[in-house]
Amino acid sequence: MGKEPFIVGNWKMNLTLEEGVEFAKSLRNNLHGKNKTISGICPPFIFLKDISRVLEGSNICVGAQNIHSEKNGAYTGEISALMVKEAGCTHVLIGHSERRHLFGEIDSFINAKIKTALSVNLKPIFCIGETLTEREEGRTEYVVKNQLKNGLLGIDNNYVEELVIAYEPVWAIGTGKTASPEQANEVHSFIRGFLTDGYGKDIANGVYIQYGGSVKPENTRELLAQPEIDGLLVGGASIKLEAFLKIIDAASIQ
Ligand code: PGA
Repeated sequence: MGKEPFIVGNWKMNLTLEEGVEFAKSLRNNLHGKNKTISGICPPFIFLKDISRVLEGSNICVGAQNIHSEKNGAYTGEISALMVKEAGCTHVLIGHSERRHLFGEIDSFINAKIKTALSVNLKPIFCIGETLTEREEGRTEYVVKNQLKNGLLGIDNNYVEELVIAYEPVWAIGTGKTASPEQANEVHSFIRGFLTDGYGKDIANGVYIQYGGSVKPENTRELLAQPEIDGLLVGGASIKLEAFLKIIDAASIQ
């Protein structure tokens, strides 16, 4: 691994504003001066500004869960990259499987969002992963390769280095079924290989590749012990302060 693990919580559509702010305050207090692990949280849009204020000056980053691909315009109900940046975000989740599968987001849209995020200096956490059927049919590498190829189309080498890639097998998200550390590492190696072929070894090694899908305190260490797993994207366990702190703690003693 060789890098400090990067642990990010994706709150999805959970918590109230008050609960979110309290969570952020406790997270900050608990991690203060204690921990080298880089962590972050992705709250709902409407909490971003308040939570960024609480976390300002800490080593906990704030990310949005989505953005639109256009910088502005007549897109009712959408939020732009600059808006989330203005609200204090340094990161943004792009192409999360719930966006792909529940809201029909396709690779070209995801590619455009990544480009827009990078153009305003917002770091994308680019999510990819296969469904259960795709895995059972032996198509995991094919699917992941296409998501990478299409998602990164036309993106400059210098920018690729800025990316975080989150490998999240769809069958492991919110199901309690974690990929085994070896299964995850195998796909991470494949992703690293894809990046090495396309952008060279230095860039490939600089990219953080996170694993996501039913991460909990109990499986954190074994996942991060794998050589190609550089961090974790945590859903369900990231809205419970105790569990999230335990994950960050377990990550910091790798
Ligand atoms: P989960 O979600 O940890 O609840 O499986 C992960 C994610 O959706 O990023």
